Amino acid sequence: MKILGIESSCDDTSVAIVNSKKQILSNERISQDEIHESYQGVVPELAARNHVFQIDRMAKKAFKMSGLSLNNIDIIAATAGPGLIGGLLVGLSFAKTLAQVKKLPFIAVNHLEGHVLTARLVSEIKFPYLVLLISGGHSNFYFLKNINDYAFMGGTLDDAVGEAFDKVGKALGLKFPGGPEVEQKALKGNEKAFIFPKPLLRKADTDLNLSFSGLKSHIIKLVKNNKSNLLSENFIEDISASFQKTISDILINKLERAIKYSNTKFPAYESVVVAGGVASNAYLRKNFIETITNSNKKPYIPPANLCTDNGAMIAWAGYERFKLGFESSLNFKALPRWPLEKGNFYE
Ligand code: KG4
Ligand code: ZN
Repeated sequence: MKILGIESSCDDTSVAIVNSKKQILSNERISQDEIHESYQGVVPELAARNHVFQIDRMAKKAFKMSGLSLNNIDIIAATAGPGLIGGLLVGLSFAKTLAQVKKLPFIAVNHLEGHVLTARLVSEIKFPYLVLLISGGHSNFYFLKNINDYAFMGGTLDDAVGEAFDKVGKALGLKFPGGPEVEQKALKGNEKAFIFPKPLLRKADTDLNLSFSGLKSHIIKLVKNNKSNLLSENFIEDISASFQKTISDILINKLERAIKYSNTKFPAYESVVVAGGVASNAYLRKNFIETITNSNKKPYIPPANLCTDNGAMIAWAGYERFKLGFESSLNFKALPRWPLEKGNFYE
């Protein structure tokens, strides 16, 4: 079976073709980083306009790269939420039109489901498993019992981790998005140069909530107060390294708690997955793998190019749903807010 996957929920337009044997036949993606660069953040209207411009180009490319045509496709899957309404509408309309014309099953996919199931596309992982999802819009712990049976365990009370990386990058005058830039600067910095706040670590062991806005604001203030130093490369590198270490310390502390909590609260599980754009950070990946292994669990983190937004993860999640008999009506609405744990509640 071949699944066409369409992702347009934020600032990447991506179209992919994946088959039921877990082969990614094409995964075409164009980012809008240059468009949003001067605003240092995603501008929804500009994002929507660009998705309109790019969606059929990406689809044509995905067919060309795979050597396939629409006649070879069995299922059409598209992100229906959460995300920016303009982009969601572009992807959904495109997907629904193809599905209707070709009389193919249409699957509305939760973007977060795409992220948390990607590990099953690239590895053999059985349910249940624990997931830490860290992206530009989300930073949450989930326990996945089966497809469409997801328990939310805790998450950020304010900013997502990726957002904190992006805002710190902006304060340091780095390119957008800040995540990969901060990671590069941190390579040369001293991670012990600054001591930053680590919120919510003194809470009870079962507290799996996160908070990054205080840390972000603390650093922005520090940078503003050090105007004279601002352009010093050392300063930027040291802040980047200290910030990245602080993020790592917070996430590792909470991940250890989440593993222990899941051991007592949920069915026996073997695997722990880290997913989402921030999981492409090599420094964090190394620390996650060490922590998960030390907790006697098997770590799975998708390759970096499948951690950030892409159509293949949507195609795969669509297939997983289809296999279990879920199919969406062509009336399925775009859902800018759609908690993962709600499953197909809206179908
Ligand atoms: O999953 P994703 O592509 O989009 C969302 O669903 O949000 O994640 C994008 C986020 C951005 O905030 C970006 O700065 C961050 O992931 N990111 C990183 C790295 N690569 C991407 N953060 C830290 N280190 C990285 N290497
Ligand atoms: Zn994402």
